[in-house]
Order: sequence, then structure tokens, then C-alpha cells
Amino acid sequence: MNMDLLPRLLLLLLPLFSLFDSSSQSPVSISVSPTVLANSGDTLRIRWTGVDSPSDLDWLGIYSPPDSPDDLFIGYVFLSSDPAYRTSGSGSISLPLPNLRANYSFRVFRWSKSEIDPKKLDHDHNPIPGTRHHLATSEPVGFLAERRPEQVHLSFTDRDDEMRVMFVTGDKEERLVRFGKSERKLQFSVKSSVDRYEREDMCDSPANETSGWRDPGWIHSAVMKGLKKGVRYFYQVGSDSGGWSPIYRFTSRDDSDEVFAFLFGDMGTATPYTTFSRTQGESISTMKWILRDLEALGPSKPSFVSHIGDISYARGYSWLWDHFFTQIEPVAAYVPYHVCIGNHEYDWPAQPWKPDWAQTIYGKDGGGECGVPYSLRFSMPGNSSEPTGSRAPATRNLYYSFDVGPVHFVYMSTETNFLPGSAQYDFLKNDLESVDRERTPFVVMQGHRPMYTTSYESRDAPIRAKMLEHLEPLFIENRVTLALWGHVHRYERFCPLRNFTCSATEGYPVHVVIGMAGQDWQPLWQPRSDHLADPVYPQPARSLYRGGEFGYTRLFASREKLTLSYVGNHDGKVHDKVEILASGLVVSSPIDGTEGLQKAGAAESSFSWFMKGASVLILGAFMGYILGYVSHAQREGTMRWRWTPVKNDDV
Ligand SMILES: [Fe+2]
Repeated sequence: MNMDLLPRLLLLLLPLFSLFDSSSQSPVSISVSPTVLANSGDTLRIRWTGVDSPSDLDWLGIYSPPDSPDDLFIGYVFLSSDPAYRTSGSGSISLPLPNLRANYSFRVFRWSKSEIDPKKLDHDHNPIPGTRHHLATSEPVGFLAERRPEQVHLSFTDRDDEMRVMFVTGDKEERLVRFGKSERKLQFSVKSSVDRYEREDMCDSPANETSGWRDPGWIHSAVMKGLKKGVRYFYQVGSDSGGWSPIYRFTSRDDSDEVFAFLFGDMGTATPYTTFSRTQGESISTMKWILRDLEALGPSKPSFVSHIGDISYARGYSWLWDHFFTQIEPVAAYVPYHVCIGNHEYDWPAQPWKPDWAQTIYGKDGGGECGVPYSLRFSMPGNSSEPTGSRAPATRNLYYSFDVGPVHFVYMSTETNFLPGSAQYDFLKNDLESVDRERTPFVVMQGHRPMYTTSYESRDAPIRAKMLEHLEPLFIENRVTLALWGHVHRYERFCPLRNFTCSATEGYPVHVVIGMAGQDWQPLWQPRSDHLADPVYPQPARSLYRGGEFGYTRLFASREKLTLSYVGNHDGKVHDKVEILASGLVVSSPIDGTEGLQKAGAAESSFSWFMKGASVLILGAFMGYILGYVSHAQREGTMRWRWTPVKNDDV
């Protein structure tokens, strides 16, 4: 061979090599700082440079673990989220990231409109980015205290003198909870039990597929016993070899004649990137305002949170549970966090209880989780459980009750059998009939799918009919004070009801829908000038208040009166209120928004992670505009605080 020809031949072949492996010749580089994060939720700065002819569709893939195949990213952001990118081919972004117990890495891809696959869409019908042109990969990023417990959250047990704490670690080695009345002397200690679930326990896709499954870690649970009443305790979880959590505090239950609680449904979690499933940026505000209220309440007053179904909206994408528990920890490590099961924790095609009338109701809303993460990541009072009919562990945390101050709180499952003859019906009947109204003059019932709503929620009409037929009589006979529901993502308060009719008689339950804490798809209740053909849902007389803002409710009760206040996330103020006397009489007084709160205050200091997340989420919405695929619903819901259009198959 003529050696003079060799260099020329190589020059000719070079473009061919780059077609097969664009990264090998790419000048694109990507760097991350720092390369080790101290704590879950800390912010990482990612920089990229050297992309020729920058395009709006160029994107950054987020991977964990770092050796995942290109198409198994957990999320993405468009490089053009940095405005400088379009002209320079360089840019950067900051992402607060939870510890997934495996390292992260980041990859830059080029993607063009001609490569959009209309069959590969996410929940918002956006096309999922293509991975054909991989330009660069970052070095891995890990967490300094990778064995330290995280995702700490409290809950009541069946005993007044106990408090349960749960947390997650990356290994199954023994951990302890040490606690005491002084921050400097945590003299009591108890070992945690440890559990986990496997990919094979998941019942359907995406939960049991490589796209949705990631290692969920080891789930620890421990009960602090022998607590004195109304005392502030300090605690931390961990071990000498694996590291200790920060020291948290809580106030034990007391014999007070008051109770303070925060109640909502359908909150979900925020991610600083786009992923396969819609996430709930609004959940940041809900947690922010509740933190403000907790700070105003002060550390000496016990309270708790009640999240009545549709909890993380992970729907089979495992890492969204990590985001959720990281996000609620600033609240849930200090006050008990109580839950009941929603359709997005459970719904799956082969679920054991699916009567004929419910064929259209129970579907695939759980993303294949079939209640497993919900059952293991929480531990509620009582011992309710139902077999899953598969190798998956039994579904737990279905129905239970507890007393706090003058209120008896009851939780039920609208996802499993509640008809007469079922274990749940027996529980509810026995529980409601045995309430000592001298001790707890108020009874608050909670479940996910509402018995009453005036939204266009036609899919669940058969279940509402069954609840009316079988549960409403129980509620009325036993003088339930308040029935709280989620599932419909708006606030709606009714008059005291019996069979759709307002009652002037004392003691009929006031129904309130409180599913407005984060998720935004929702039927329209008001006419829209630009959608005149869409149906309109007039407000009947029994519906006394319908709110269009995201938010949550605060419950405050003394022995004489229970007050439920609706706080809007847009301004943190009370926009509706109902007051019910111990006799069951509904009264009303002007809204002042301070019931039970000792002082007004702000909790911004403990909230940096959320605010960082919020700024990144705004970038996420901007990226949606670039693509032109993000649904009208999401933009209206998150950007303009307005009613969102009809999407009635995802409540
Ligand atoms: Fe729901």
C-alpha cells in the first residue's frame, strides 16, 4: 500500500466513524460540581460546552445508576433551559437531587424533530426524547453520607404513649432510634425492624419493568414507647457505623381538649426535571404553607398531617417515592404523617376486588404498584390488610382510627371492599358505633374517592352510588361530623347532607372535597369563553363553596366547636371556613384565618430546598413551551392559577 495514501484514507473515513459513535469525536464536554453531595436534596451544578449548531431539542439525560442504558434515564431537561445555550452551545443548570442510594450521571444528547416518535409519549402526551445521538457523559456524582438514614417520617400507633418513626437506608444493617427529653441526652434507644420490596412484587408496568423499577432501599420502622403525655421529645435515627440523622423533635400526644391538623388529598411530589409521569410542582407550595403554620403553632402544640390518598403519584416510577419522602421530611419528621390509600397507589387490572359494577372504575391508575410501596413505606395504626392475590405482600393501611383531643378520626379505603359483609364495613360499623361522644364529641371520616362531588366525574358514579347506599346510612346513624374526600382536585364544601338534600336537622355530615394539594388535571366547573362547546357544571344549592385554588385545609377543634379552614396556596390565606358545634349544628362566622394559630409567621428559613426546586420547575414549564407539546391543562393549572380543562380519566 502506498503509505502516502493512508492519511488521506483516514481523513475520508473519519466522518464514517463519527456516524457510528458520535461521542468518540465529539468536542462536547459536560462537568458537574460538586462531584460529591453532602445531603439528599442538595443542589448540583451541571455545565456543558462545545455543542455545534445548538437546537431547542438538545437535552440532558439524568441517570441513576450511572451505568443505565441510554434509554433508561429517570428524567431530562432541555439544554435551552439556559438562554445562553442557543447562541453559545454552552450552558448550565442547577438541580436539587434526592439520594437514590446509587450515583447519578448526566448525558448530553442531540435530538431532531424528524426523530420524534409519536408512539413514545409521556403522561402529558409529550414525545419522549430520543437517544440516538449521544454526545457526552459526565463523571458520576454520589452522596457523602450514603449510608445515613433518610426520608424520616412519624406516625401515631394504636397507643397514646407511642410514636412510630420510619426511614430508608441503602443497606439492611441494624439501625437504632435514640430519643429523650433533652437534645443533649437521648438516653432511650430502640432497634428498627427492616423490610423491603422487590421488582417481582410489582404487579404491572411500568412498576415491574426496567423503565420504572429502581432499588427502593431498605425500609426501617421503630416505635418509641413509654412517652409521657404532651412532652417535647428529641430523636435521631441511624448507627455508629452507618451514620446518624440530624436530631428531630416531636411533641407526644396529650390530654388536651384541642386538636390541630392539616388535611388534604392528591398532593404528589415535585421533580426539578421532566420525567415519564406528570409531577406536581404545586406540592412545593402546600408544604411551604404548612411549614409556616407549624412554625406559627410552635413546638409545644401537637398536631398531625392527614394526606387522604393519591400520595406521591409515583405510578410505578420508583424514584418519585424518594422525591416525595425527601420533600415531606421537613414536616413529617416533626409531626405524624397519616395517609389512606388512593387509586394511584393501588389500581391494577388483576386486583382482587373488582365487582361487576366497578369494571370501569378500577383500572391501571397505580402504574403496577398494586399498593406495595404504599403498604411498606407507611405503617398506620390498626391491622387492616387484604391479600393481593399475587406474590406481592398484603395491602395494608386500609382502614383505622384514632382519637386526638375532642375528635375521633377515621380512615377508610375506597379501593378495596367496603360493602356490607366485608371486613372493612364491619370495622367502620363497629368503630362508629363505639365512639364515646362524651370523650370525642366530633367524628371526622376520611377516604379518597368522594361520596359527593359536583364535578364532571362520571367514571366513579357507580362507586358513589354504592357509598350512598351503604355508607351514608352509617354516617348519619352515627352522627359523623365531617366527611373529607380527595380524588377531585379542587376544594368543594357541601351543606349537611342526606341523599343529596341539605338538612336543617343537626347531626348530618358536612362533606368536603379537599383534593386540591398538588395534582392539577380536573374537570371544568365554570364556562370558558374559548371552549363554548364544553359542558358546564352549574353549582347546585347543596354545594356551598367551590374553590379553584390549590391549597390545603386546617382543622382546629375544641370541645365546643370544630373549624375547618381552606387555605389557598396562591396567597397562604383562608378562603373558606365551616364551623360545627358539638351538637352537630353548622354555624358560620367571619373568616379571620387564625383559628388555633398562636401567631403569624413565616418558615422560609427551613425551606431552601423547596424554593430551589420551584425555580427549576419554572424552567421545566418553559421547556414545555419550546416543544409545544405540554398540555394546555398543565400550563393553565400551574402558571395562571385558573381552572384546568377536562381530563376526567386521571383523578
Ligand atoms: Fe384519585
